[in-house]
Amino acid sequence: MKRNIAVIRGDGIGPEIVNQALRVLDRVARLYGHEFTYTDVDMGGCAIDKWGDPLPEEMLQRCVSSDSVLLGAVGGPRWNEVPGPMRPEKGLLRLRAGMGVYSNNRPAKIWPQLAAASPLKPEIVDKGIDFLIVRELIGGIYFGNHDTVTENGEKVAIDTLRYSESEIRRIGRIGFETARKRRRQLCSVEKSNVLDSSRLWKKIMHELAEEYPDVTLSDMLVDNCAMQIVKDPSQFDVIVTENMFGDILSDEASMITGSIGMIPSSSLGQTTCGLYEPIHGSAPDIAGKDIANPIGTILSAAMMLRYSFDLPKEADAVEAAVSATLDAGWRTADIYDGENGKKTGCAEMGDRILENLG
Ligand code: IPM
Ligand code: MG
Repeated sequence: MKRNIAVIRGDGIGPEIVNQALRVLDRVARLYGHEFTYTDVDMGGCAIDKWGDPLPEEMLQRCVSSDSVLLGAVGGPRWNEVPGPMRPEKGLLRLRAGMGVYSNNRPAKIWPQLAAASPLKPEIVDKGIDFLIVRELIGGIYFGNHDTVTENGEKVAIDTLRYSESEIRRIGRIGFETARKRRRQLCSVEKSNVLDSSRLWKKIMHELAEEYPDVTLSDMLVDNCAMQIVKDPSQFDVIVTENMFGDILSDEASMITGSIGMIPSSSLGQTTCGLYEPIHGSAPDIAGKDIANPIGTILSAAMMLRYSFDLPKEADAVEAAVSATLDAGWRTADIYDGENGKKTGCAEMGDRILENLG
């Protein structure tokens, strides 16, 4: 199989973690007889510095015309004073919208080797943590109109939250289809006691439920969901929710599994060209020190193999290599408990995973 991958290293720890994922992809290509070529894409703060734009049109085109996109992370304090529309994060939002990847899939699954790294009590962890957040990715308040005006002599900032029926329906379908492939429990998370957009959300989810009688739909208010995720995460199979709620809940969900550094994500739309990125940020405080955890990015590459390239055997092999590396005790700082296991850095973690890949 020949595939061209657009590679966005981005800012902070982005380049370090992406480099490890590329080594893994190269090894997969060699072992299984594929040919992966890479096209570099500048996005985020580095693109602002180089081109004066967090995502120049030409860079977006490279992504859209690739077979899939692998992304590290963008942003950092260096660009904090940049005006809103030109911030590094805006490049990421424009990329997601430009690629039309409305469905973001973020697994929250505890690795048995890391159970002790979870901040939750063992009796809660032992009940099992294995759920998935399906986050709407290109609508809602992150994409509504933003404005800052002056009223009565003071500044007023406005961000609008809008959702159309069709936007809700297409992500709702992904939620139901995803639940169907798992334990058939779908929890729709919203704030329908306050927001109109949430009331519409809930109504559409219940309409869809009639088409999926084999899936059990439940509703949960987002504030309650934040609480339930730490109280009893074993109750969840698939959560489907809007953009901002999904952003917040997926960080919370990652933490209870031990470390945000472990969590990959896939974002897909109508085509097989997807966007694959770890859910953590650019961690500027540890950038360039070779201590970041590359596993979230490596597992994102595995998701690319599985969902965009339809290579489940190869994806399984990468996941098994990560698991074997954890079994052998290798831990980056974020998952090291101070006494058990062997503490290692970003590149060496990559070495160990490659060894286990064969
Ligand atoms: C994420 C990040 C992004 C988001 C930021 C960097 C724009 O927090 O992928 O969760 O809010 O979607
Ligand atoms: Mg986030």
